[in-house]
Parts: sequence; C-alpha cells; structure tokens
Amino acid sequence: MKSSVLIVDDDKTIRQELAEYLSNDYVAYTASNGYEAVRTINENSDIEVVLSDLKMPEMDGIGLLKKIQDNNRDIVTIFMTGYSTIESAVEAMRRGAYDYLTKPLDLDKLEITIKNAIDNKKLRAENIMLKERIREKYDSVEIIGSSKKIKEIMELIKRVSATKATVLILGESGTGKELVANVIHYNSLVANGPFIKVNCSALAEGVLESELFGHEKGAFTGAIFMKKGRFELADGGTLFLDEIGDLPPSIQVKLLRFLQESEFERVGGTKTIKVDVRIISATNKNLEQLVAENKFRDDLFYRLKVISIEVPPLRERQEDIPLLVDYLLKIFTETHHKQINGIDPDAMKIIKSYNWPGNIRELKNCIESAVVMTIGDRITVESMTPYLTLKHLARVSGKSPENLSELEKNAILAALVKYHGNKADAASALGIGLTTLYRKLEKYGAEV
Ligand SMILES: Nc1ncnc2c1ncn2[C@@H]1O[C@H](COP(=O)(O)OP(=O)(O)OP(=O)(O)O)[C@@H](O)[C@H]1O
Ligand SMILES: [Mg+2]
Repeated sequence: MKSSVLIVDDDKTIRQELAEYLSNDYVAYTASNGYEAVRTINENSDIEVVLSDLKMPEMDGIGLLKKIQDNNRDIVTIFMTGYSTIESAVEAMRRGAYDYLTKPLDLDKLEITIKNAIDNKKLRAENIMLKERIREKYDSVEIIGSSKKIKEIMELIKRVSATKATVLILGESGTGKELVANVIHYNSLVANGPFIKVNCSALAEGVLESELFGHEKGAFTGAIFMKKGRFELADGGTLFLDEIGDLPPSIQVKLLRFLQESEFERVGGTKTIKVDVRIISATNKNLEQLVAENKFRDDLFYRLKVISIEVPPLRERQEDIPLLVDYLLKIFTETHHKQINGIDPDAMKIIKSYNWPGNIRELKNCIESAVVMTIGDRITVESMTPYLTLKHLARVSGKSPENLSELEKNAILAALVKYHGNKADAASALGIGLTTLYRKLEKYGAEV
C-alpha cells in the first residue's frame, strides 16, 4: 500500500509540481495554507507525512506543527525553507519536526528524506509496541503467592478469563488490582487485542468524557480534529477503568448505557458507535457505601460486578511474604546491579511482623530501598531502616527503644547517609522528631 503525503505550500506551482513528482510512489494530497492542511489531515486518516513550507500567510509552518502535535496522531513533518528562514527551520526541528530541506529542492534528497521519515516512523511505532510488551511482562503479568486466598483468586481469574464477563476488582491500595486486570486480559480470548487503561480519578469530568468516548470536530473550542475515545481504541479488546469509584455521575449514565447496549456517541456527535469491548473496572473505595450515599448508581454497580474479585490485603496473607520478598529481591538486585544473595532471618522477621498498610506496593518500596542501602551481600535489619521506623523495630524486637541502642545507632547513621546528612529528612524517615534526633546523636557521641 502506498503511504500518503500532504504537501503544503502557498505557491501553487510548487504544490502541483511536487504532487505530480511524488504521486509515482505516494498518494499525494495538497493544501495551500495551514488551515487547509489541518482540515485535510482531519479528513484523511491515511496521511503519514506532511511536507510543508515554513513561511505561509496566516498559520505558518510552526503553527501547523503545533496543531499536528496537539492532535496526537503519528505524523512526521518535514519543512521546506528558503535560506532566509533557516533559523525557523532549526526551531521547528527543536520542536519535533523530522527534518528540513532547503529551497530550491533537490528532488533526490527529497525522496530519500521522505522514505527515511516513513521508515523511522515505522521503527518508532514498533519500538513503542515492543517496549510496552516488555514493560508489561516485566511489571509481572505473574501473580506471586501461594496462600489459600491467592490460589482462589488465580482459580477465579482462570475461569473469568475464558469468558467476556464484566469484572469488578476490589481491594485496598497496592494489593495488586491492576495486576489482576493485566492477568485477566492476557489470559483472555482477546489477549491479542488492545488493552486500554483509563484512570477515572486523574482527569476532570469534561476531559474524561471526551477521553473515554471521543469527540467530534468542533464539539468544543479547541476540538479542531475528530478524536476517537478509549472505548473505540479498545474495540476487540479490554478497557480497564481504574478508580471507577471516582466516575462522575454524568459519565456513569453513559457507561451504563454502554454496558447495556454496547453503544455510545462521541461528545458533540449524533452518530451511534458500536464497539466490542470487555470492561474490567477496579476501585479501592467501598462502592456499596457510595451507592448508599447516592454517589454511585446502583444499576451501574450491579452491571459492573457481574463477577467481582476481592484482592485481600497483604496482612491477611502473610504466608506469601517470603515468596514476594524473594521475587522482589531478584528484580531489584538486577535493576540496581547489586550482588545480594539473601536476607537475614531477623530482617525477615521484621518484614513478616509489620502490617503493611500500603500492601505490596509498600513492600516493593521497602525491598527496593533495602537493596539500595545494603552494603554487604545480604539484607540485614540495618538495611531495612530507615524504611521501617524505629518504633516498629522496637515493637517487633520486643525491646524497649532504650535497649535498642546498637540498632538505633545504625539506623540513624544509615538514614543520615541516605539523606546526605540532612537531619530533618533523616528524622522524618526514622519517624522521630528533629530534637530527638539531635539528642540521640549527642548520646552516641556523633558529630552534630
Ligand atoms: N501478587 C503479586 N505478585 C507480584 N507483584 C505484585 C503482586 N501484587 C501486586 N504486585 C505489584 O505491586 C504493585 C502494586 O500493585 P497494583 O498497582 O496492581 O495495585 P493496585 O491494587 O492497583 O493499587 P492502587 O489501588 O493503589 O491503584 C505493582 O507493581 C504490582 O506489579
Ligand atoms: Mg491501581
């Protein structure tokens, strides 16, 4: 299939000659100014390269480049410039243009530049896709754990993956809800289809609506292009709606309709769009309570939780901790190029006894910090601090803080090293006040 190129120049002769020359190898479109170019791009989704003059009346090349970038479509831009505007051409490159050619054009060079631009764009797209795959593999599509609860969840995942049922995942922050969503998608019938994620709490209501459902051109000021929403992008795959508890009421209605009829309209549009998308949602909020408070529609709640999976907090599955620690140690020794081959029993005891309010995400942070802090080849109690506070150490070791001197001293020194001698930061990491820190330093005879 021929790639498509849009030629933009206010000089009619240049436009026509270039179009004729390029039409052997490309589908060539033309536009005589920036506005017309925007319209042509909007109407022709096949355009991959824009070859544009820099100096044009009204919207110049840089203005056009900005519009193209706002549109988020993967289009490469090449500028043509006379010697007088080379400076602007360099500016355009700085802002993300692919290349510039000086007028009068050398046609061989033009051809090579366009060809390279298209190759480069393909490579980039491939690269992004590969990176995404690696990231997803690395950010484990593997659930670690052998507790009864985790085994039950894995069993449930296996069963729902084979269906297209809507799934609601519940659980405290950091328990692995997003991980569960990943595993469901990648084990499902649509595993090769798109997996699109939206964080419903991250965007303002209006933006979220057009992000989800897309918008028509002219739907609001600034909507100069039609834009597909995430529902359309997820066609043939899975849409993961994270933090669903934060979905504003107006969007709840639209989502409900989608769940009932698989259809919706873009913002500002009248055309009904039908897509085939599996919905997985997640929240750490108590949806039942939100329903009771009239903040979440009950009909939507029931539609979402055809299957619901509750991911238990880490403190309710302590048996999983050693496996998780091993797994995380392996990951972080690799990332930080460390040689660490284990963890002291004392340190493990501390980890097991802590109640991990931030769940696996917190455990992950703690292990990463320990790996970085460790000097020898094993994780020790000292390397666990300052991550876990002295108070906690005192509680689990059964000693009063006064009897913890050796441990405490090491913890304080480690914290000071970590925070480059900044005492306020060290104190707050240790969970003690600044004056207490000074007092202790004095007690240990350390330089204050
Ligand atoms: N069982 C597990 N095995 C391996 N890694 C896990 C496990 N559970 C969670 N993780 C990892 O812990 C981190 C936090 O998990 P995730 O982002 O899925 O939590 P979440 O429940 O979505 O949290 P939040 O509610 O804050 O969004 C991720 O890096 C995830 O890969
Ligand atoms: Mg999450």
